[in-house]
Amino acid sequence: MVPKPLIKRSSSVNPDPQQKTQYNFSLWNIWVATTLLKILLYPAYHSTDFDVHRNWLSITSLLPVSDWYLENTNQWTLDYPPFFAYFEWFIGLFVPHVVVDDGCLELVDVGRYGHLTVYFQRSSVIVSEIVLFLALQRFINISRSLKEKKRNFVIASSIVLSPGLMIVDHIHFQYNGFLFGILILSITNAKTKNYLWCGFWFAVLLCFKHIFLYIAPAYFVFLFSAYCLNPLTIPKSTKELIGFIRWENLLKLGSVVIAVFVVAFAPFVYYGVLPQLLSRLFPFSRGLTHAYWAPNIWAVYSFMDRVLIQLVSKVPGFGEFVHLVFKLNISSESVNHTSSLTRGLVGDVQFSILPDIKPNHTFLLTVFYQAMSLIPLLVNPSFERFIASMTLCAWASFLFGWHVHEKAIMLVIIPFSFIVAQDRKLLPLFQILSASGYVSLFPLLFGSAEWLFKALFTFVWFVVFSTSFNEVSHFSTTLARRVFIIDRLNSLYIVALIPMCCFVQMLEIQSRNFEILQRLEFVRLMIYSMTCCIGVISSWNGFTWLYFLDDSIWVEKDD
Ligand SMILES: *[C@@H]1O[C@H](CO)[C@@H](O)[C@H](O)[C@H]1NC(C)=O
Repeated sequence: MVPKPLIKRSSSVNPDPQQKTQYNFSLWNIWVATTLLKILLYPAYHSTDFDVHRNWLSITSLLPVSDWYLENTNQWTLDYPPFFAYFEWFIGLFVPHVVVDDGCLELVDVGRYGHLTVYFQRSSVIVSEIVLFLALQRFINISRSLKEKKRNFVIASSIVLSPGLMIVDHIHFQYNGFLFGILILSITNAKTKNYLWCGFWFAVLLCFKHIFLYIAPAYFVFLFSAYCLNPLTIPKSTKELIGFIRWENLLKLGSVVIAVFVVAFAPFVYYGVLPQLLSRLFPFSRGLTHAYWAPNIWAVYSFMDRVLIQLVSKVPGFGEFVHLVFKLNISSESVNHTSSLTRGLVGDVQFSILPDIKPNHTFLLTVFYQAMSLIPLLVNPSFERFIASMTLCAWASFLFGWHVHEKAIMLVIIPFSFIVAQDRKLLPLFQILSASGYVSLFPLLFGSAEWLFKALFTFVWFVVFSTSFNEVSHFSTTLARRVFIIDRLNSLYIVALIPMCCFVQMLEIQSRNFEILQRLEFVRLMIYSMTCCIGVISSWNGFTWLYFLDDSIWVEKDD
């Protein structure tokens, strides 16, 4: 048998200009492949969030609108804004009879459901995620050049393949995919300068999930400055100030946003349940940190407190020293109460040595850092600045906010994806953030099979998109000045995450055999939290630096 000669060079021998443009940058293949993968994940572990959403499904299907925010049979009461409730009601229309019989729609204190309910709800996540794919496909479609299209394709595929969505939506169970889809619709409209649509979609998004308030300041300033102000010159008198604002645009934008909120909230105002609704949305009675410490400033703070407790209880004289130097009150009672590092997880963190943190402290810190990032945006409302300040706003809320969930890191990573190709200097920061951010989601899942999946998936995603972003990034001329020692430290940090994850997983597996390790559950979580803190905080530092000091990055670049 004579093997056919391989005609390898045919494409270069016969360059076909059509060939390149024929590649249509479609997300369709990715959708098919990942949907199959997600279906394989149906039997995987799911968290209590699953029962939360199942309960909401039954509340909205069984009860009249007026009772949605009053019902509290199940501890997981409805605490998302109205559009999400309508969304649950809409899904409820499609529950087949067999799934109803399975216990999907029962209004009980703890859900009793079988496989069918799980399959049905998991399918609803996959179907609703189509919004994300369509929004990103549109984002790819609006590119003006082939090069930009390629870049946007990398951005889009990095988001649809995000390990965060895989872990949080398709295993842990939540509906973030389509919510980010709406955010991306809004971002796409900001890019094409359709400001009204941009505002419209963001208002819709806020009525779905209020966590997006984290980035609302960036939207507010961007839309106000880009759409409602005449190009900037400092107004000198009130008369000039009046002419300075484009009142017509302000009116249009205002009515669009208000109309959305009216549609969302009007029924609840009508039934007089608005106060209950709002108290559900903003429960300030929760503690400073979530049960598992999201990798932010307060995690570091709590960690320091724990270390100090150990020192005070183990090192003689240390307590007096701290008391003398820092004037901190240490009650021996509280130290004894909390001195064990193995103390379980408590949502409501009481500090024993460091001063307590109140909600308004966290609020002031967040607002301060957000306001800093908004000033350059107000002066120069370019698309790039807008996305960068959105990223910084989410970051500030994540680092300094009250009761932050680890999942909120997605709110930083996804906007960041849109600007990472803007300059090669941003890539190391993105790498550190995405590596530490996604690794910090690992403790959400239990089970060895899940561990293998999340670790492998995140690793492959990281390698693929590090190289792809590297290929499509703009190179700036000042690249030579990059500090190489910092680059080396970055890589070292990212590589070190691998043994960290393996080590913690080994502890977890061994804890089945050794009782002493079981009591260290909290230490395992703390190792994750502290390691990821380093990444999230240091990449925030670097990003802030570039945001304020390197203006050349935040302008539209020609290809
Ligand atoms: C994107 O463009 C392709 C081909 O040009 C078209 O078929 C598709 O419908 C567009 N998709 C969206 C979401 O705009």
